[in-house]
This record gives sequence, structure tokens and C-alpha cells, in this order.
Amino acid sequence: MTVIGKLDSSNLNGGQKLGLKYFSVAVVLFGAQVLFGLLAGLQFLYPDLLFGVLDFSVNRMVHINAMVVWLLFGFIGSSYWLLEDEAGVPVVGLKLGNLGFWILTLAVVVVVLVYLLIQIGDGTHTSIWLINEGREYIEAPRWADIGIVVCVLVFFYNVAATFTKGRFTGVGGVLVLDLVALAGIYLAGMYFTPNISMDQHWWWWVIHLWVEATWEVLVGCLMAYGLMKTLGVRRKIVETWLYIEVALMFGSGILGLGHHYFWIGTPEYWFAIGGFFSALEPVPLVAMVVHAVFDAGHHKLKSTNHPALAWIIAQAFGNFFGAGVWGFMHTLPQINLYTHGTQWTASHGHFAFFGAYVTMVIAFFYIAVQKWRGNVYMSGNIAGGAWKWKWALALLHIGMLAMTMALLISGYEQSHIERAIGGSDWVAYFTAQAHPWFVQGMKWRQIGGWIFAAGFVLLVWDLLTIGKRETRPAQALVQID
Ligand code: HEM
Ligand code: HEM
Ligand SMILES: [Fe+2]
Repeated sequence: MTVIGKLDSSNLNGGQKLGLKYFSVAVVLFGAQVLFGLLAGLQFLYPDLLFGVLDFSVNRMVHINAMVVWLLFGFIGSSYWLLEDEAGVPVVGLKLGNLGFWILTLAVVVVVLVYLLIQIGDGTHTSIWLINEGREYIEAPRWADIGIVVCVLVFFYNVAATFTKGRFTGVGGVLVLDLVALAGIYLAGMYFTPNISMDQHWWWWVIHLWVEATWEVLVGCLMAYGLMKTLGVRRKIVETWLYIEVALMFGSGILGLGHHYFWIGTPEYWFAIGGFFSALEPVPLVAMVVHAVFDAGHHKLKSTNHPALAWIIAQAFGNFFGAGVWGFMHTLPQINLYTHGTQWTASHGHFAFFGAYVTMVIAFFYIAVQKWRGNVYMSGNIAGGAWKWKWALALLHIGMLAMTMALLISGYEQSHIERAIGGSDWVAYFTAQAHPWFVQGMKWRQIGGWIFAAGFVLLVWDLLTIGKRETRPAQALVQID
């Protein structure tokens, strides 16, 4: 029998149990990302720190690889979470899915250990296969790439076969098609050529097309499900929005890829194509804000899961500002000439990944915890108090915004002093790095980082305890037309 408020896996269906495993690893890797980020930030302030023990290059690599992997784990977990609910039948091939989870997790552990144990050495064909492929964000060596592809295919099989056996909802259909693209594009990152322009050309297929097309579509599916679950929004409405958003995202995001082809040796027509299409990329993000905020207002914020809804709304705004506004700022080639590869880019990178993706995965953590505790009450006046989730939300946002603004100021200074005044030469590069505005930005980033880390600790604490003292069941969903 279900005891409300008590963590019990028998409250979950098969897909959700597996989803929970993915979520658990995701939280641990999120913690690793924060830890290595703090260390990398400190190395900007104290360049000798850990030199020869954990070099900045390795530290930074672990920081951003942990990010990509934990977000992927979060997305895979979320997909398993909604799978049986949406399809109406148990997951097909669940045993294989479980095996895939263990192999993937083991591979991640081995890859990270190798990163840390073998930090320097020659780049050869052997090192590409065994140690590091050398492609930012997806550095995993070739053997792990192949393992990842196999595990993702298993995941794809689970999702596609389950929807095929049960019912194909709109969310299900979009998800399956999106996973084909997501898995397919990963292969482009395994292509090797000694020509750096060509190498970068294909590498951006993974990076840009993932984060600005397939991942965005995936969070679109998650948002659609999340709004139905937490607000009771009707399927017809969320799915109509989903189709519009998907069309706009692919319409602008695919050729928007050109904003990474300005300075890598690709033909000049990319200036016009990249500038134009990427300038349109914020449009679907506006649609997502309207979608979420309108639905929440229409339902008078009467939600069965307050923290999850709060994080969904945070996603709508974070995605719009972090990706849309911060991306738009430097996407025209005339501007990018000055900002390219400065801390301006890092400002956008942090804000976008947090705003668009971290937020949605956290929303799913809360959706999961609610059901795990026997579909416990998680609306207003929750027993045990709501201060933890509210403060976690606040600290994570304050920390991230502080980092974003500090990096923007440093990036602005670099664009001005190194590029515009100094003409981008070597001396100008170092002059800009020593300027007080740059250095102060790095200090404030670190302060933002500590605040963010405090928010993370509180978040984990809250996820482990929220609803523990509640005995009421979740509020019933009220469907409004
Ligand atoms: C959620 C979506 C997005 C994420 C997660 C994201 C993340 C990032 C990251 C991490 C980088 C740095 C890549 C590197 O290491 O070189 C980057 C670069 C860039 N992003 Fe985004 N981005 C997103 C959406 C957008 C959008 C919508 C735009 C335009 C409207 C945009 C414009 C750019 C540009 C122009 C660059 C190149 C910066 C440079 O030249 O250094 N991004 N993005
Ligand atoms: C404690 C908090 C954090 C600190 C102190 C921190 C610090 C750093 C540092 C020092 C770098 C290297 C920047 C460079 O090469 O100039 C970096 C890169 C990066 N971090 Fe973080 N980070 C933190 C949290 C996060 C979070 C939460 C995310 C996203 C979810 C994130 C995403 C990224 C990305 C995408 C890059 C690559 C940016 C680029 O190349 O433009 N970081 N971070
Ligand atoms: Fe891009």
C-alpha cells in the first residue's frame, strides 16, 4: 500500500525506476561540474593553483564534459520517466535499458579517471582511441564514443518500441524523431581529419545542432509533459505549441549553425547565412515563454507541484535570456569579430546552458520526487516548509546571474581593449588580461560561483527531504478549457 510521504520505489513504474537511476547519477555529476568549475575559476585568480596536479586544461575539460554528460543523463532519465505514462504500456526491452544504464555509467567513470590520471602526452591515433579525442565538450575517447552510441541506440529502441506498441502521442512522435537526430548528429563528432577547418566544421554539427536544435526540441517535449502534469493543461494545447516551436527551432537553428563558421576557414557566404538565420533563433524561445506563462496564468498558478512549476517558468525565461538575448548579442558577424572567444562567449555559454537545460532537468527531479513519495502533496503550505526549495532556486539564480554579469563585463573589456583598441595582437591580448576590469570580473565570477555552489547543496538537501513530513496526497489537477 502506498504510504504518502515515504520514499518507495513500488510507487513507480519500470521506466520511472530506471529514470530515477539516471537522475541519481546526474545529480552526482552536476556536483562534480560545480566542483571543477570552482577550481577552474580559482585558477584564473591564482594561476599556480594545482599546476602539474590538475592543470587548467584538464580541469576545464572535466567541468564541461561533466555538464554535457549530466544533462544527457537528465534528459534520458526524463524520457524514461514520461515514457509509460505517455505510451500507456510498460517499457519494451526494459532489461536491456537497465544494462545500457550500467554500461554508460561505467564508461563515464572510466573516461573521467583516465582524464585525471593521464593529463599530458603526445596526441596520436592511440590517444584518440584510448585517452581523449580533443574535441571540446565531447572529448571522450573513441572506444567510449562507440559505447555511448550503443547505449543511446538501446535507449532509442526502448522509446521507439514502447510508443509503437502503445499509443503515439504528439509528444511521443516528436520525441522519437528528435532522438534520431540527436543520436545521428553525435556521429559527426567522431569524424577525424587533420584539416582543422574541416574538423571544426563537423564538430559544430554536434555542438550547435545539439544545443540549438535537438536539445531544445527535447526540452520542448519535456515542457509539454511538465505543463500537463503540474498544471493540467490540455494535451491539444501543449501539443499545438510544441509543433509550432519545433518548426521554428529547426527553421532557424539548422542554418543558424553558420554563426560558428565566421572565422574557421569556411566560405564567406556563411557570414550572411549565419548572421540572418541565427538572428531568428530567439523567435521560438519567445514562443516558449508565451506558452508557459500563458498556461500558468490561465490556470491561476494552481499547480500540483510548486517547485517543478517554478523551475519550468524559470526555464522559459532562462532559455529566452541566456540563449536568445545573450546569444543574439554576439551573433552578427560585425559584432562577433570583436567578441569571438572572449569571456563574452563564456557569459552566454553559462547562462544558456543553465537557463535552457539545467532548469528543466531540475523540474523533472521534483516531478520524480513527488511520485516517489507516493504522489505527495507539493503545493502551497507544504509541511516542513517551502524555504529550502525557494532558497535553492534563488541562490542558484543569483549565483548564475552574478557569474553571467561578471563574465560579460570581462568580455566587454576584452572586446574593447584587446580587439577594438589593440587590434588583436599578442601584446593586446595580455594587456586586456591584466586590466583591472578583467581581473575584477574574474573575482566576481568566483563569488557568484560560491553562491551557486551553496544553492546546489541546498537543492540536493531539499530533493532528499521535500514532502517527507507531508501526509496529504497531491492536489487534484483541474482541467480548464
Ligand atoms: C540553449 C541554447 C544555447 C546554448 C546552450 C548555447 C551555448 C553556447 C556555448 C557553450 C558557446 C561557446 C562555444 C565554444 O566553446 O566555442 C556558444 C557560442 C555561441 N552562441 Fe550559443 N548557445 C545557445 C543558443 C544560442 C542562440 C539562440 C544564439 C543566437 C541567437 C547563440 C549564439 C552564439 C554565438 C554567436 C556563439 C559564438 C561565440 C563566439 O564567437 O565565441 N547561441 N553558445
Ligand atoms: C560554481 C560554478 C561555476 C564556476 C565557478 C564555473 C567556472 C568556469 C570556468 C573557469 C570555465 C572556463 C572558462 C574559460 O575557459 O575561460 C568554465 C567554462 C564553462 N562552464 Fe562553468 N562554472 C560554473 C558552473 C557552470 C554551470 C552551472 C554551467 C552550465 C550548466 C557551466 C557551463 C560552462 C560552459 C558551457 C563552459 C565553456 C564556456 C566557453 O567556452 O565559452 N558552468 N566555467
Ligand atoms: Fe550556435
